[in-house]
Amino acid sequence: MSENRLTITDERTGKQYQVQIQDGTIRANDLRQIKVSADDFGLMTYDPAYLNTASCRSSITYIDGDKGILRYRGYPIEQLAGTCTFLEVAYLLLNGELPNQEQLAAWETRVLRHTMLHETSKKFLENFRYDAHPMTMLISTLAAMSTVYPESKNIHDATNRQKQTIRLIAKMPTLSAYCYRHRLGLPYIYPDRDLSFTENFMNMMWRFMEPKYVANPILARALDVLFILHADHEQNCSTSTMRSVGSSQADPYLSMGAATAALSGPLHGGANEEVLRMLDHIGSKEAIPAFIKTVKDGHGKLMGFGHRVYKNFDPRAQIIKKTADEVFTVTGYNPKIEIARELERIALEDEYFIKRRLYPNVDFYSGIIYEAMGFRPDLFTVLFAIPRVVGWLAQWEEMVTDPEQKISRPRQIYTGYDERQFVPMEKRS
Ligand code: COA
Repeated sequence: MSENRLTITDERTGKQYQVQIQDGTIRANDLRQIKVSADDFGLMTYDPAYLNTASCRSSITYIDGDKGILRYRGYPIEQLAGTCTFLEVAYLLLNGELPNQEQLAAWETRVLRHTMLHETSKKFLENFRYDAHPMTMLISTLAAMSTVYPESKNIHDATNRQKQTIRLIAKMPTLSAYCYRHRLGLPYIYPDRDLSFTENFMNMMWRFMEPKYVANPILARALDVLFILHADHEQNCSTSTMRSVGSSQADPYLSMGAATAALSGPLHGGANEEVLRMLDHIGSKEAIPAFIKTVKDGHGKLMGFGHRVYKNFDPRAQIIKKTADEVFTVTGYNPKIEIARELERIALEDEYFIKRRLYPNVDFYSGIIYEAMGFRPDLFTVLFAIPRVVGWLAQWEEMVTDPEQKISRPRQIYTGYDERQFVPMEKRS
């Protein structure tokens, strides 16, 4: 009978060691017993960018990158995106189970009650330059909100954590809409609790003189679907940042400011904005082969392509393509979709992309939909952040309550000088 053990022979010493295998994993700390001498620190693993290291146990999101599977709390993303509202999925991610009708109604009421921003946060936003990037405004204002809710530092109190969680989810659309309107010099619109989560966001973005904003139901639903698709994605760069900063027991506003900063980079959430700029740069279907050649020659990347985990297809990209068609029935056709589809077709037949298993990811088509709906490209990553707040908070809660977690602190392989004598200023060359 096979044992869940790994036997390691250290050829340096001839000694044998056994380490336990659990869930297809060995504990890196079990390798520390492997030493060449008593004062040896013990064997470590070297894993830049965490290509093969599990940093936590999590029951929130499951991904099988080879099969293109994404599930929240066990439910396939296709089923959730096909039937649920964003707040329903948020409840699922945070609580582990889908809400019944009564629980959902209470949850929606609770979230919508917290959508108003403290006036100091509004004033803080007003001081940014007129052309400040919305993502940078968002990151800074999230961190500044820590001063509005100093009790959030008490991260060991479950009730307190829940209160901050609701606040953050509820205020994120308000904050995002204010960032947008500040850039355009438009007056801020206060939240409207009669509307759904996504309708209210649209209201705060786009209401002008009309006394009551009426959202187009197809667009509001499309936004709900996009928010569901972006709500969590297990241990990605920004979520790992949320966990890492949170592990120092920083409050959730500060941890989320850091997570949002991680999301803003072009290799992560910032990719959706870059895709639109790339499509603009390409300009026409005829220019695609020349553009692909520049990418293959090592000049830049095909933005919206490739993923650390998905190696056959990104299930979110499949759902987004369908949502795009629905949005276009309302907004009219975005001609950039033609360039995007042709780019995808050519890339998927190209040896360079086939060999490296590069496929369109969630960001490849989302920007085209957002643009058709009237969002400007510099707001696209903010639209990613609004729903991802839920994932960050669910993962933060899991981290805070996990007895195995400690302050995040990797090791290094030191490659610098050995000890050397200090050189006085007059003797330095
Ligand atoms: N365009 C062109 N080549 C790409 C590429 C892209 N979008 N993504 C990866 N590659 C190439 C790399 O250059 C590398 O080639 P090499 O083996 O010749 O050196 C190979 O594919 C493996 O890529 P690597 O950078 O090791 O993969 P990763 O897992 O570290 O990176 C991403 C994953 C997502 C960061 C990367 O695919 C990327 O930068 N994509 C574009 C940005 C994007 O869309 N991000 C959103 C992710 S949801």
